[in-house]
Amino acid sequence: MKYFTLDQLDSINVNREHPARYAVIGKPVAHSLSPQLHQPALDALALNARYIRVEVEPGQVSTAFDKMYAAGIRGINVTVPHKLEALESCQTVDPVAKSMGAVNTIVFDSNGLRTGFNTDGPGFTRAIREDFGVDPGDLKVIIIGAGGGAGRAIATQCIVENCSQLILANRTIEKLAPIKEELISMAHRDVLEGPRDRIEILALDDPALEEAIAASELIVNTTSVGLKPIDPSPFPSRWVEPHHLVYDTIYNPSKTRLLRDSEMQGARIANGLSLLLHQGALSFEYWLNCDAPLEAMRQGVKNALKG
Ligand code: ATR
Repeated sequence: MKYFTLDQLDSINVNREHPARYAVIGKPVAHSLSPQLHQPALDALALNARYIRVEVEPGQVSTAFDKMYAAGIRGINVTVPHKLEALESCQTVDPVAKSMGAVNTIVFDSNGLRTGFNTDGPGFTRAIREDFGVDPGDLKVIIIGAGGGAGRAIATQCIVENCSQLILANRTIEKLAPIKEELISMAHRDVLEGPRDRIEILALDDPALEEAIAASELIVNTTSVGLKPIDPSPFPSRWVEPHHLVYDTIYNPSKTRLLRDSEMQGARIANGLSLLLHQGALSFEYWLNCDAPLEAMRQGVKNALKG
């Protein structure tokens, strides 16, 4: 079964020896790799639980959460386009997820009340540590595509981590001013030491982008440019230098044009597989209150991508 619909939820756990306990919602959802990430982890811990996909229409997220809890689901991942609606459908929302404007993980209490978290940001920190051996907080960061959901989550995490420079670049510059304002007010609210005066915004076609890239240490692509094998780099990749760390949140294809060119320029590169892995591991930790079996999850997702 690729996915279930809301109408099918009532019966998913009737007479099932291997009950569905965890799920991802989205629209479309059939392509989601979350089951290939989480099922091996549940199996590695010998938990008698299934992880399923549920397709949910926009406007139905709160209803879906109620129905899923009633059917026996005890933890939910949320993917596009539902991350904002999920935030609005939680009784409690983690403050960082609120600043990101997106919830990707739902935890239920014993009464079925929902708390929403966002593991994309903290997952990014773990990914950068794993791939490059440094904390993003110790780096000057530029995010290409900061107006999208992933870019905003990573930008928020950079503020949480107090990184010393944060440049937000986006094709549509108008999206960035409100994000910058939210980041500054979050920094003030939480009395963070970070770059509240050091957040810059730039259009992707601004001539100053070349200099902004040169002044950065970590370049993160969160645009969708690169998803198609024929896609170009989202900015002229001849600007990449050997001192750069280049992280592309795209993991399929495993080497985008940006990563291939950056490698040729002598930079260190990594793709979004580590982010996929660590955001999932953090969700798992929220649900089960134990360390996630990371290697089982890594193998699961690698197998899925090979397939
Ligand atoms: P998500 O919310 O899932 O991250 P999204 O909202 O579609 O995805 O955002 C994708 C990002 O890719 C955005 O920053 C988008 O730029 P705009 O805000 O200008 O739309 C960026 N993007 C998509 N196609 C692009 C292109 N051809 N060139 C540059 N940026 C592009």
